[in-house]
Amino acid sequence: MIIGLEAISFHTTQHYIELSDLAEARSIAPEKFTRGLGQQQMSIACLPEDTVHLAINAAKKALERFNIAAEEIGMLVVGTESGVDHSKPVAVYVHQALGLPSNCISYETKHACFGAMAAISAAGDWLISGRANNRKALIIAADIANYALHSAAEPTQGAGAVAMVISDHPTLVHFDRNVAGHFTHNVMDFWRPLYAKEALTDGHYSIECYLDALTHTLTDAKPELPRLSDLQACLYHVPFVKMASKAHQRHFEYDQDLKLEKASTDWLNFEQSYQTKTLPWLDYNARVGNIYTGSLFLSLMALLVNGNLTPDQLISLFSYGSGSAAAFSLIRPIAGYEQFKSCIDPSLELAGRTRLSISQYEEIMQQRDQSITENDRIDPADWGLTTPYLYNGNQAHIRQYSDLL
Ligand code: HMG
Repeated sequence: MIIGLEAISFHTTQHYIELSDLAEARSIAPEKFTRGLGQQQMSIACLPEDTVHLAINAAKKALERFNIAAEEIGMLVVGTESGVDHSKPVAVYVHQALGLPSNCISYETKHACFGAMAAISAAGDWLISGRANNRKALIIAADIANYALHSAAEPTQGAGAVAMVISDHPTLVHFDRNVAGHFTHNVMDFWRPLYAKEALTDGHYSIECYLDALTHTLTDAKPELPRLSDLQACLYHVPFVKMASKAHQRHFEYDQDLKLEKASTDWLNFEQSYQTKTLPWLDYNARVGNIYTGSLFLSLMALLVNGNLTPDQLISLFSYGSGSAAAFSLIRPIAGYEQFKSCIDPSLELAGRTRLSISQYEEIMQQRDQSITENDRIDPADWGLTTPYLYNGNQAHIRQYSDLL
């Protein structure tokens, strides 16, 4: 049985900031953000653009653009670390908005940025188990990355959702289930206590933890682990673009050590390898910022839109969630995937965002920090927002959304 992606779509916020503007406002050399972190812009979520809003809009695009009917979905999982309730999952709002069948399984997964990869794995097992009855799984990676103003992590925020339909009739890529490496290790590199709106991070340590997890997943995937020369593209979790470069460097060094064990056909040096296998697929990440669970899949979207792949070429995926959990896996393109490039391409949406000044951004961030309680209403018109499914505040503790009756 072949399992893989039949649809993938992206949704982000209506506003963004330029990181060069943020650098200037913080009296930091802009090159630190643009070259040092590799980031250009950052999507900024206003209060009504919460995780439910991002998830529903991404999922709607996935079903509509790939012509998939609501009745075909038998499993819905939202991977997120920015949920809207301690108990009620984002998934059930999506279920209502999309009119999914009542016998559809639905839930939310959490392990920092690893939540969506965990959901994809569960969807694959569900399809293979035979319980899907010809139905498909809708997996959504939706998050708002939120750090304190003026903190070192501030330039690594972002917001967005990637929705994916996983089925046994994939049209884009299929999973190579023969190779997988896993790693779990309890570390305090990044976390968000229940009482905090912003994530806390030990930034430099988190980079070490990420790279250490990559090494362990590569080791766990041996002996089937392919050589770098056999991989057409290497995609990684992208909290910021430079992190993917550091990851590829680690992968490259690991591969160099493997040369001692397996015959080498790789003639590239690190820079050539990075420039061809990883960097070309990081443009959307550089313009959106960290979207936690969806960051890896945003890079996959860039590969599908801009790469000239041939069927069955090998592509590696490395998913890392702080805390920590990680997985290394492989996918392969499916013949004819190119016909869906225009359905996947998020360029128009990115170009259509409105640029904020840093003072407007700071105001939005301060509004996001406000506590909305029992009967607080918010009016999306105050932010000039025009997208559907916006959060309108609460009524008797119940979250209210436009277009959700
Ligand atoms: P920092 O300490 O302010 O930055 O924050 P820095 O001093 O390390 O500088 C960053 C880079 O810019 C360095 O490059 C500098 O050399 C360079 P590197 O040495 O690393 O290659 N630089 C310059 N380059 C050009 N011109 C200049 C200049 N100045 C400096 N003038 C840090 C950086 C990433 C620590 C911070 O932004 C942070 O804490 N971010 C959040 C944590 C994070 O993203 N961690 C990544 C790994 S963990 C992960 O990915 C999981 C996560 O997504 C959460 C989840 O799983 O849910 C975060």
